[in-house]
Amino acid sequence: MASLTVRKLEEALKAELRLRAARHGRSVEDEVRSILRDAVAAGDSHDVSAPGAAPPPVDATPSPTAAPHPAASSGGSARVTLIIGGGIAAYKSLDLIRRLKERGVAVRCILTRAGAEFITPLSVSALAHAPCFTDLFDPRSEFDVGHIRLARDCDLLVVAPATADLMAKMANGLADDLASATLLAAGRPILLAPAMNPLMWSNPATKRNVARLTADGRHFVGPNRGEMAEAGEAGTGRMAEPLEIVAAALSLLAPPAPRPLAGTRILITAGPTHEPIDPVRYIANRSSGKQGYAIAAAAAAAGAAVTLVSGPVALADPAGVSVIRVESARDMLAAVEAQLPADVAIFAAAVADWRVAQAGTQKLKKTAAGPPTLAFAENPDILATISQRTSGRPPLVIGFAAETEHLIDNARAKLKRKGCDWLVANDVSPATGVMGGDRNTVHLLKRDSDAVESWPVMGKDEVAATLVARIAEAVKG
Ligand code: CTP
Repeated sequence: MASLTVRKLEEALKAELRLRAARHGRSVEDEVRSILRDAVAAGDSHDVSAPGAAPPPVDATPSPTAAPHPAASSGGSARVTLIIGGGIAAYKSLDLIRRLKERGVAVRCILTRAGAEFITPLSVSALAHAPCFTDLFDPRSEFDVGHIRLARDCDLLVVAPATADLMAKMANGLADDLASATLLAAGRPILLAPAMNPLMWSNPATKRNVARLTADGRHFVGPNRGEMAEAGEAGTGRMAEPLEIVAAALSLLAPPAPRPLAGTRILITAGPTHEPIDPVRYIANRSSGKQGYAIAAAAAAAGAAVTLVSGPVALADPAGVSVIRVESARDMLAAVEAQLPADVAIFAAAVADWRVAQAGTQKLKKTAAGPPTLAFAENPDILATISQRTSGRPPLVIGFAAETEHLIDNARAKLKRKGCDWLVANDVSPATGVMGGDRNTVHLLKRDSDAVESWPVMGKDEVAATLVARIAEAVKG
């Protein structure tokens, strides 16, 4: 194996190496090692980029549309080109670099001339562990990577802070400095984190530019409302916090989730019902609604158009789901019928079987006659009603069976009685902790099969994901 003595290299080469090493915060020996490592890893002699070597060839043709999720296709760690514009929020971008790097994202930075009035290239490069680029016409920057490679050799470009000026340049296709030239040449998604005075943000010119950039497919995070750096000023214009920008960046970097249920309409019931005794009292049950909500969230994530008819629960609406809130079983049936047609209906609600036949219109008072006797009437069976419709029946109807004994036998009888296609049976006896808890042990029964599929004990989210996967197979089939 040959050895190499840096001291013996020609002077011009050594000077160039020293400069590169200083820029990268490394010793000259480490710089040489890093150049060699990169060259071997790239397996391409053009990428050696040794001082004095010919500049590497670059593909200067920008792709017309930004590839949406290139990190997945690159196979390696995600790479972000961060453009730091000139604004007081630039100091937050130093933290943004750290947060991205903590998550394994490689960050290359461009600092605009105005940005360099607020933070220094040295602090940027020290945090990014990579040189900070500043000048379009710096021959050394162009030699190292060039603005076309800054624009193309990454999975995402983030502009933070995105000033009114930078956005105006982008909206109009200007390219008179390294940042704007890189953005114009970008073939990857661009995420903008605007930061400016509220009056600038609400100016019609900025609004026009934001609308143009949105139409061009650029992504935005923020700006937030709050106090401005200028004393006594508040409004919309604060840059999003670094972790908010990180979350937005990571979601753009994530590979696209499979959407096997795209184009499928799914109707779901969840939660308990409340059956009034009088205006202040009601009969309820212990259902938390967690399982139905988890199914709604999983189905929406799989691309379905989901409507969730929910009894009273203390849960937030799942993302991307249209939620209709109801109280009683009769309200729930009416809401379900109003939402038909659907391709799949899943009845996960714990509907009260009975309601008080004559609920008081006024609060029931204590009387000398003693406690009242409540007479009950049977509630409509929503699952059976929908399963047995002669017209407009969803092609796949799924019920749940909450049992405390003889689980499979009772579930099999229930499947038949109700007329649904599938039944998800679970043991809800108090010892299982299923009611209100986060875990569930379920068994899947199907109308056209005697087999019972027993799933291992799972979190309710996993039960939801597994059921949604089964539904996707059935819909596809
Ligand atoms: N269900 C319904 N409407 C009702 C009662 C139940 O839609 N009035 C649905 C539930 O959402 C669930 C299935 O029917 O999908 C079974 O509910 P469960 O409470 O287990 O059964 P019940 O029909 O109430 O029968 P039983 O109380 O005798 O077990």
